[in-house]
Amino acid sequence: MTNAFQSVEHETTLRRFHGHVAIVTGAASGIGRACALRFAQEGANIACLDVNDTGNATTAEACRRYGISAISLHCDVSSEHDVQYDIAQVMSRWGRIDVLIAAAGIYTGGLLSEVTIQQWRRVLEINLTGVFLCNQAVAPTMMQQRSGSIINISSMSGKTSWAGTHEYSASKSGVIGLTRAVAMELARYGVTVNAVCPGNTKTELVLNAARQNAPREGLTVEQWLARRAADCPMQRLAEPWEIAGLCAYLASEDARYITGQAIEIDGGMVMS
Ligand SMILES: NC(=O)c1ccc[n+]([C@@H]2O[C@H](COP(=O)([O-])OP(=O)(O)OC[C@H]3O[C@@H](n4cnc5c(N)ncnc54)[C@H](O)[C@@H]3O)[C@@H](O)[C@H]2O)c1
Repeated sequence: MTNAFQSVEHETTLRRFHGHVAIVTGAASGIGRACALRFAQEGANIACLDVNDTGNATTAEACRRYGISAISLHCDVSSEHDVQYDIAQVMSRWGRIDVLIAAAGIYTGGLLSEVTIQQWRRVLEINLTGVFLCNQAVAPTMMQQRSGSIINISSMSGKTSWAGTHEYSASKSGVIGLTRAVAMELARYGVTVNAVCPGNTKTELVLNAARQNAPREGLTVEQWLARRAADCPMQRLAEPWEIAGLCAYLASEDARYITGQAIEIDGGMVMS
């Protein structure tokens, strides 16, 4: 299984976000793409932000099939300039921001002695500083609206750690701490801020992790992925649309009293 996972799209009959505006970082692929499609299905206009312009444009095009308006904007989330510029573009087009899904992220791994300072800084810059910059950029609009929902994609690695996940785990635990601090500040404005902590999910990122880690453990990529499924109480990896479903719930009216939480969606991994 060295090719990309087959993309599975899930249709919903829910229509909770008609006329809302959702910004999704990391929209070109995996969980971000699934979130963009889910919010589009439910009626939101979508701003797709990613460094991968081709994949980003493909997601925006797929979102438009649901009859909403979608744009793709180039964004390196670790660049304050890119983030501020893109949020200004969204505001000039739609004049409001209802949802931020901060999903852009990368995985690198290695034993403590192998992690270079460049690798450490790059993961922290994208996975943690990138989330901070996006939260900071949308907060003033949501505070002024007195409504909105920020959903930061952390990881089960933000809740627990394995050998060889130093910089990734640190970045994802950082996202949980950041989420709580932003939630505390925005609560009085009626803005909810939560972290979602997925387990292994069928995306490019987990394939990259398999390619990096399998040789170290004397396994093929397929064997490594099968072991990760076997580790999980539910005996399988997650589908990206399952993570998107939780994000949509957290942005919905049903979840308006949930804030500052870091919710595991991992088939029972952290629990076990
Ligand atoms: N797949 C998993 O098993 C898993 C588990 C837990 C958490 N996560 C988290 O979910 C999020 C989404 O990951 P995924 O699994 O969908 O991976 P993915 O590789 O499929 O998607 C990540 C996206 O982020 C984009 N990206 C990378 N660097 C960027 C940057 N500097 N600026 C803007 N965009 C950038 C990529 O181009 C890509 O489109 C990540 O934060 C990841 O850490 C994934």
